[in-house]
Amino acid sequence: MCGIIGYIGEKNPVDILINGLKSLEYRGYDSAGIALKEKDEIEIIKSVGKIVNLEEKIKDEKLIPSHLGIAHTRWATHGKPTENNAHPHTAGRVTLVHNGIIENAEELREKLKKEKVRFYSETDTEVVAALINKYYDNDPVEAINQALKEVKGSYALGILFQESDDLYAVRKDSPLIVGLGKDENFIASDIAAIIDYTNQYYLLEEGEIAHITKAKIEVTKDGKVVEKEVQTTSMERDAKDKCGYDHYMLKEIMEEPVVLQKTFEPYLEHLEKLPDLTDYEEIHIVACGSAMYAGMIGKTLLEEYANTKVEIDVASEYRYKNIIYDRKTLVILISQSGETADTIAAMRKAQEHNVETLAIVNVKTSTIARESDSQIFIEAGPEIAVATTKAYILQVGIMALLAYKTALTKNLVKEEHKVLEEAEKLPRLIKEVLDRREEYKKVAEAIYQKEDIFFIGRKIDYATSMEGSLKLKEVSYIHSEAYQAGELKHGTISLIDDGMPVFAIITDDTIKDKTISNIEEVKSRGAQTIIISNEKYATDDLQVTVPKISPYFQPILIVPTLQLIAYETAKLRGCDIDKPKNLAKSVTVE
Ligand code: AGP
Repeated sequence: MCGIIGYIGEKNPVDILINGLKSLEYRGYDSAGIALKEKDEIEIIKSVGKIVNLEEKIKDEKLIPSHLGIAHTRWATHGKPTENNAHPHTAGRVTLVHNGIIENAEELREKLKKEKVRFYSETDTEVVAALINKYYDNDPVEAINQALKEVKGSYALGILFQESDDLYAVRKDSPLIVGLGKDENFIASDIAAIIDYTNQYYLLEEGEIAHITKAKIEVTKDGKVVEKEVQTTSMERDAKDKCGYDHYMLKEIMEEPVVLQKTFEPYLEHLEKLPDLTDYEEIHIVACGSAMYAGMIGKTLLEEYANTKVEIDVASEYRYKNIIYDRKTLVILISQSGETADTIAAMRKAQEHNVETLAIVNVKTSTIARESDSQIFIEAGPEIAVATTKAYILQVGIMALLAYKTALTKNLVKEEHKVLEEAEKLPRLIKEVLDRREEYKKVAEAIYQKEDIFFIGRKIDYATSMEGSLKLKEVSYIHSEAYQAGELKHGTISLIDDGMPVFAIITDDTIKDKTISNIEEVKSRGAQTIIISNEKYATDDLQVTVPKISPYFQPILIVPTLQLIAYETAKLRGCDIDKPKNLAKSVTVE
């Protein structure tokens, strides 16, 4: 949820830290801060709102000359987004920044208060600083080890100690890397923050403490030195740039044809590389948000075309439910970031029951990618915009290939679906759909001043409507709901008012007439209906029609239209498209 960056080296850290924070802003922000250290002096500057506010504040300050610093962009979990709650936090001779959530913070705070420790913020982070300070007796690593024995929860910490000119870092459940430079080293929540300076890094594992100077990095765990393998990222430096687009979201939507091709490539001629779902008696799909809706499409395809029963649940429910694992089960976890706390917890729950986990994941170095039993990587590349687009399409694409392979294994493939042929055509067809932006702008103009918008669909079109509704909400802030088309009349239709937009997603031939009659129901109550389909209807509705293709891939042609309608609507409303308010790219806390 938050972003951390740290620097130690020969340069002045300010520009490096601020530049890094800007690359982390997509992870969610409501305040930010920086700490610079030189010998015994530590200078801390904080601000609320965007990084640019911090930048402005720093310009007005006469900063200490420094070669060591830490910085943080905060997405509030404990305590309101105020300057006082912004990181870094100092307690005694310890200053630190934190990403994660300390679950026993209040208990620790009360205990420390009894030891006469005073607190100045509402944050769980300050409690960690106070605890490390309590154990600090000029041995930073020992103080960290002692303190963290009492801490429950998730953390990635960048830490400075009064008497030390070195940088320290430690993580549990929240990602943290140590960037390797020449006469300089870094820490960061995400490689994107330091890609301008290095593409080599160590991935800190659970409980590992890094003691970092400009020339040396020593990683220990429980007091023992850990030999670390150098990782090299393939991320291009321009991945951070918008390549001429107004927003990352638009750039990433436009990348969909290319990244789909890249993701499909290893499998179209080698379906044997995909896991065989018929090896299992039960399939669970577990994810959050858009990834969940990709899972819903996967469930529908597996049930409809591969006659395979699938249980599906949002990870925040699954992790706490009494799941009965009484048959050979595969838990499929879908996650772009691979760091979503609830999905990680669901994965670990399955593994505690010795149940196999398969991750469909984008970030190869993420916790879910590293801890799951097997993985199918989508090749979306870095997705910077908070609203997922290209990664979602690839999640759906992989679910479609899994459903197809399962149907093939069960000799259930219908000839007319021509799945592999259609898969080859898909990137070009997506490109054609993406190029029709004027149509989506027209729809956006019709809806951007509305307050409430509904999406309806049946079966796979219902799953697609869930994502269409979420995308619109996320970036345009218009209230929207998706409903099974047949369900609307059981209450919610009372909300349909004159001119209220209702999107109808219609691609499934077996039930299209039913949805058409649902459209009539809402139109007779004044709704403004918009049909998103794979055929043209002789009605006066606003329509967007995409090419008809195998039902396995039809959502992959429909969703980009909904993504661009959401994008154009948000643009008309002047929203912060890449960093919508209250949202974070990776929800690394519960
Ligand atoms: C962002 O557009 C999504 N709407 C968000 O719901 C996301 O899908 C969800 O938080 C899961 O993230 P993950 O794929 O990284 O696990």
